[in-house]
Amino acid sequence: MTKKFKRTTVTAALPYANGPVHIGHLAGVYVPADIYVRYLRLKNEEVLFIGGSDEHGVPITIRAKKEGVKPQDIVDKYHHIIKKSFEDFGISFDIYSRTTSKTHHKVASDFFKKLYDQGEFIEKTSEQYYDEEAKQFLADRYIVGTCPHCKSENAYGDQCEACGTSLSPTDLINPHSTISGSKPVMRETKHWYLPLDKHEAGLRKWILEDHKEWKANVYGQCKSWLDMGLQPRAVSRDLDWGIPVPLKGAEGKVLYVWFDAPIGYISNTVELLPDSWEKWWKDKDTRLIHFIGKDNIVFHCIVFPSMLKAEGSYILPDNVPANEFLNLEGDKISTSRNWAVWLNEYLEDFPGKQDVLRYVLTANAPETKDNDFTWKDFQARNNNELVAIFGNFINRAMVLTHKYFEGKIPARDVLTDYDQETIAEFVSVKKNVESYLDVFRFRDAQKEAMTLARIGNKYLADTEPWKVAKTDMKRVGTILNLSLQIAANLSIAFEPFLPFSSKKLRDMLGMEAFKWNSLGSIDLLPEGHQTAKPELLFEKIEDDVVEAQIKKLQDTKKANETAEHKVEPAKADIDFEQFTKMDIRIGKVLEAELVPKTSKLMKLKVDTGMDQRTIVSGIAEHFKPEEVIGKQVCVLVNLEARKLRGIESQGMILMAEDADGKLVFIQPSEIVTNGSQVK
Ligand code: MF3
Ligand code: ZN
Repeated sequence: MTKKFKRTTVTAALPYANGPVHIGHLAGVYVPADIYVRYLRLKNEEVLFIGGSDEHGVPITIRAKKEGVKPQDIVDKYHHIIKKSFEDFGISFDIYSRTTSKTHHKVASDFFKKLYDQGEFIEKTSEQYYDEEAKQFLADRYIVGTCPHCKSENAYGDQCEACGTSLSPTDLINPHSTISGSKPVMRETKHWYLPLDKHEAGLRKWILEDHKEWKANVYGQCKSWLDMGLQPRAVSRDLDWGIPVPLKGAEGKVLYVWFDAPIGYISNTVELLPDSWEKWWKDKDTRLIHFIGKDNIVFHCIVFPSMLKAEGSYILPDNVPANEFLNLEGDKISTSRNWAVWLNEYLEDFPGKQDVLRYVLTANAPETKDNDFTWKDFQARNNNELVAIFGNFINRAMVLTHKYFEGKIPARDVLTDYDQETIAEFVSVKKNVESYLDVFRFRDAQKEAMTLARIGNKYLADTEPWKVAKTDMKRVGTILNLSLQIAANLSIAFEPFLPFSSKKLRDMLGMEAFKWNSLGSIDLLPEGHQTAKPELLFEKIEDDVVEAQIKKLQDTKKANETAEHKVEPAKADIDFEQFTKMDIRIGKVLEAELVPKTSKLMKLKVDTGMDQRTIVSGIAEHFKPEEVIGKQVCVLVNLEARKLRGIESQGMILMAEDADGKLVFIQPSEIVTNGSQVK
């Protein structure tokens, strides 16, 4: 595209606030977006960088249910963790807000209403599963049943995780609700649909003809969607978490999360710039760029643009540089299997090393295909590139300047042919870095920036100022002057990629103001200018450190494997007589208190029908005393008494324990007389 724009709105996918962010998020979306934005800012372009948390959707409600808290509690917790990780890694959003904000509720609601009033939706009634006990419609994820393909009994209404097949809830054999366990029934429900088919022709021209420059992976996915033909998509759901559909008679219905979330980009702009947000979204001279992962392509290239077009006053994205996925040590990153490097944990283990991760993730970014992050590669890139090339060059130039010139930039004398060649080489770096950044090729851009350090390193190795110092201090001055100019260039070239190290380097060189446009200049540091004491920019990462990380992952893998096979094998047979020796009764918990100075033990007083006795039980990590009092439980009453923490325990409460160590009580299905026998 040759069109000249006045300003750029950059968005980065809003991560779901149901877990922390990991290296896959950073590599795929946030680091490239941040590099791009920093680059535009350096060029003094008008740019706005919008982020935020995606806080609606079914997975958040499921997580909340599992943890026994409200969805709002879940998103509050993770929004702050995520926001902090982004700040820690220097992701320089102009605003990082959230889709539970008041502004967003209003903006999204108004957006829906406007499309509705303009007649952009179709209304359709369809039959969906309904839980009569819980009195609610069931999202696909809330229905489990037997997979028609592999017969796994725990398939979800949208997918069987055992065989990977995507399903719709009506495919399930013997479906039941995960909320009440009951068998759901079909019930009619009305929803609003965005007729994507109506926009198909426009989208075809806009993407397939006018945006041939989009990345091949993005263009290809769009083409295959378009070739399959587009269908109307429901933009509402029967759910109690989300933005209510702003229409009469739509009680209990909310906007579908993929309808409200992308509007979040707009809402967050409104929140930041209540008076001037429109120019960032509606002016034809504004360029809109969405940074996303590949699983978001259809929503950003087809669904959201259809919404924007239907609304009528918005611009469409100019580019959607989506990345593929980053794997970890050969396996797909997975939150549920804890197969990830979490950003908050990384910083605990590698404090101050944000830039190392930024560097490695960019060097290895999944720009055109899925890529693999390995700790060995992380170590190698740190040690062989950041330390051995970049850091080493800076350190040598700085140390020599302090040794021979008290840290002051020496004067430059006559330049040799070799000096001239070196200068010619590094002057072209700016153009090369820019030409890659302009087309979202961040790996190549960073590699090109790194050639500056290679040039510098080679220059010092070839000119050997430490030898020349014996005979010609003027020449040494020239060599170090040029070397420090290269160092200053490095601090500019790396500013988009490694903002922390670039700043540190500038502080060392005593550089204050700097301009992207002066990249390539050999007059960044004036003669006589005082530099600060040299410090190491990067440190070697030792074997034991990466081995500890690898071990951590291996332990995760082992834990996952045992969890999968956690159903304990059967114990050896016993005879009937042995069984009848156990005297199991139903009793009622009368009192409960925590045993001081232990985390696991709770002291209970239980009415066994025969007596009231004290039993110490290891349930304190799973229940609060007040949750236990009044419960009927199963008690093994003839277990030999034993002392636990000085308290005599007379019997044992029977519990069921699942693979994850979660405990639940064994209770009679109806209240029975205390002392009833279990046989
Ligand atoms: N939360 C989505 C995901 O993580 C991305 C939403 S992007 C937005 O896949 F455009 F909808 F905001
Ligand atoms: Zn299956």
